[in-house]
Amino acid sequence: MANAEREQWSTSFGFVAAAVGSAVGLGNMWRFSYLTAEKGGAAFVGLYLIFTLLVGLPILLAEMTIGRGASRSPVLALEHYGGRSWRLLGVLFVLTGFLILSYYSVIAGWTLRYAGELLWHGVPLNPGDHFSQVSQGWPAFLFHVSFMALTMAIVAGGVKRGIERVSVIAMPVLFVFVCGLALYAATLSGSEAGYAYYLNANFTNALSMDVVVSAAGQSFFSLSLGMGAMLTFASYLSRQSDLPREAIRIAAADFGVAFVAGLMVFPIVFALGVEGDVSESTLGALFVALPEAFSSMGLVGRFVGVIFFVALIVGALTSAISLLEVVVSAAVDGWAWSRGRAVIVAGGLITLIGSFAAWDLALLDAMDQVANNILLLLGALLLSVFVGWVMKNAETELAQGAGRLNWVGVWRFLLRWWVPIVLLFVLFHSVPKTLSNVRNLVFGLD
Ligand code: PFF
Repeated sequence: MANAEREQWSTSFGFVAAAVGSAVGLGNMWRFSYLTAEKGGAAFVGLYLIFTLLVGLPILLAEMTIGRGASRSPVLALEHYGGRSWRLLGVLFVLTGFLILSYYSVIAGWTLRYAGELLWHGVPLNPGDHFSQVSQGWPAFLFHVSFMALTMAIVAGGVKRGIERVSVIAMPVLFVFVCGLALYAATLSGSEAGYAYYLNANFTNALSMDVVVSAAGQSFFSLSLGMGAMLTFASYLSRQSDLPREAIRIAAADFGVAFVAGLMVFPIVFALGVEGDVSESTLGALFVALPEAFSSMGLVGRFVGVIFFVALIVGALTSAISLLEVVVSAAVDGWAWSRGRAVIVAGGLITLIGSFAAWDLALLDAMDQVANNILLLLGALLLSVFVGWVMKNAETELAQGAGRLNWVGVWRFLLRWWVPIVLLFVLFHSVPKTLSNVRNLVFGLD
């Protein structure tokens, strides 16, 4: 039910901070840098930007329009505009939230551990060995549990007192940290090679379908699209809010942080000669290469390292909150559960599923690929069909609070034709490839 006592953000900055908090996370720093390294540098970044503008932004507006219009969590919001059968799409969103948060929290757990270790003991002697020891098994499990406990505590506080209060402080801190690190990286001698690698596009590399699929998946993951997170956050907005303005702010901040994170990671990695570790990229590249770089910078490196990992923790936490909120809001609205009960049950289950990823890196990698290269793309495809073809008055709902918009027709057209066609094309390539990768990863056929 859309009800009078449903919580709302206290200010429009509160909403933007929370939505940017959802978007900016491990995806912008860890995943963006390792994919950029793996997929050939600047050309990948260019494609990622194009996807964000031409596919991500229309979908972001679509999620926000449904969420604010219905003032309900995803399952009920889709039913409200589309009838009972569209509930299934909401269920897909919730399941995707479960899957992503369960492995996301394991990686976030690594960042918690690294920040603590750098602070108390300094950089490990052999970062490669260290990573293999702590990224799986009991150490990974314990930090995963701690990170989930932190996330659950914030979500239990509710929209205003939990999520918004944390985001309005955390996001400015993260921006200052990331910009400070990028400025510091510019002072290192030898950093030019890093900029050259990051900023000089070689488009022959970008033309492979593999790179296109990764750029598409990354733009959805990074903007938290295709699983109802932005829909859920927008459901706590008032009807006066200006959706296009907020959407542009969110997308700009999200791309900005990823881009600036690259301006920090690549110069540092090249200046200290550890680029080999990154270009053979795996999930752990950043957790090996950067500590190696930090260790050759002495005490300064330790300080820079702490700032870097704290920024990662902050980003991961505000994103994890939004993932959990999708699941929690569905249980609160759909089954009339109390928030506390929903947090404990959903958080507990996610912690449990995540423990499998904590014990097996290959499984973690497989979960990440399925979520990004299949589920988010599929969710976004169905969502664009929904808003493009099924939802009535989508244009009016979007324009509510924003004044006259003369481009809404273009937006609807993009959702009807362009976005579904692009996503079908991408899915056509990504599904068989991802399934075969997953088979290799999980059954060790590689
Ligand atoms: N956008 C987050 C990141 O870049 O780290 C990850 C994420 C959060 C994905 C919320 C999906 C989501 F619903």
